Amino acid sequence: MNCLVYFIHAALHCCIVGYGQQVWPEPYKRLDRRPDVDPYCQALYPFCPSGDPDGRMPVMRDSDIISVFRLQTPVWEFKYGDTLGKFHVMHDAVGFGSARTGRNFTLEWYELFQLGNCTFPHERASVSAPFWCNQGAACCYDGIDDVHWKQNGTLEKIGEISGEMFNEMARWVQEDNETGVYYETWTVKSDPGANSTTWFESYDCSQFVHRTYKTLLHMGAELSSQAPTYYTKIYLYSGEPLYLGDKSIFQQSSTKDLATDIKKFYHSFRSHQSVVEMIESLLEAFEKMVLEKTFYFYYNSEYWKLPMKYPYIKITYEEIPLP
Ligand SMILES: *[C@@H]1O[C@H](CO)[C@@H](O)[C@H](O)[C@H]1NC(C)=O
Ligand SMILES: *[C@@H]1O[C@H](CO)[C@@H](O)[C@H](O)[C@H]1NC(C)=O
Ligand SMILES: *[C@@H]1O[C@H](CO)[C@@H](O)[C@H](O)[C@H]1NC(C)=O
Ligand SMILES: *[C@@H]1O[C@H](CO)[C@@H](O)[C@H](O)[C@H]1NC(C)=O
Ligand SMILES: *[C@@H]1O[C@H](CO)[C@@H](O)[C@H](O)[C@H]1NC(C)=O
Repeated sequence: MNCLVYFIHAALHCCIVGYGQQVWPEPYKRLDRRPDVDPYCQALYPFCPSGDPDGRMPVMRDSDIISVFRLQTPVWEFKYGDTLGKFHVMHDAVGFGSARTGRNFTLEWYELFQLGNCTFPHERASVSAPFWCNQGAACCYDGIDDVHWKQNGTLEKIGEISGEMFNEMARWVQEDNETGVYYETWTVKSDPGANSTTWFESYDCSQFVHRTYKTLLHMGAELSSQAPTYYTKIYLYSGEPLYLGDKSIFQQSSTKDLATDIKKFYHSFRSHQSVVEMIESLLEAFEKMVLEKTFYFYYNSEYWKLPMKYPYIKITYEEIPLP
């Protein structure tokens, strides 16, 4: 019975996606506008404390010359046992400096409620479905903290653009910020090899930085880096994902067993305050994942079943050249 229901869900999804042909990677869904955050989601650290309260970007004079900086800093590094090596999780941002005024700015995109909340949902007695606090957003603030980025990280000038181009990019940032609102931690692939299929792309700070570079390049900017550009990627490896459905899974009696399975799966991931705690619990759950070979994956506010494959999960720090 449940199998039939999954099948119908999956078939419907394919029809909606396009003529029965699933496209991989599954496209990241954009919204018309950013929805309000549920008051249940409370940030431990305020989002974008020194940014413009109305989310405005600075306006440059068209003839100004704006330096563009690549910024990178370690979020944390730690070693868990001997098996998975040392993790190297970096945060990426872009810096801008005005030649006319000497003022500079940092532009970044990150989680409203930290990485743990974007990776795992909450259980709430009053709500049947797992509850996610998974929005991310762009933050632009005055200044570039040279020491913060330089020490153990990167602060590199990668080009110059006109003030006019900056203003055009600023309009793009606001549209991007309004329509791409959910953070996605994982990249899901068929295997670690060069010819693997990507099932789902992550949507995180480094993806934002790449979109920004691409937008600037389309406008005619020239950007280049002297040093190789490395980015953190957090991978899951699986066979072809199976579409399950949206939160209606948790409301219909026909999908009761599936709903229970998904909740049981997420129950093993505790609620976390720090990134280190989150990764630790993830690694504890790793064994379970190996045993049961199933990951209930959440993307575009919908659930997918991932038939997990060796090596299951990997955190890499790999070179991705500038676009
Ligand atoms: C994650 O979300 C919960 C629920 O709103 C909140 O209590 C907690 O402070 C959030 N964690 C962080 C690090 O913001
Ligand atoms: C992006 O959206 C967030 C959430 O609404 C807001 O706080 C922030 O100021 C916006 N950033 C920009 C650069 O518009
Ligand atoms: C940004 O501006 C501050 C204050 O003027 C200055 O100390 C810093 O060196 C500047 N950083 C860059 C990368 O231009
Ligand atoms: C840079 O790394 C050194 C050595 O690991 C550490 O002592 C220092 O606190 C780090 N600096 C920053 C700003 O993270
Ligand atoms: C990837 O695919 C190409 C073209 O089909 C093939 O030439 C190459 O050997 C493959 N590489 C790997 C690592 O499988």
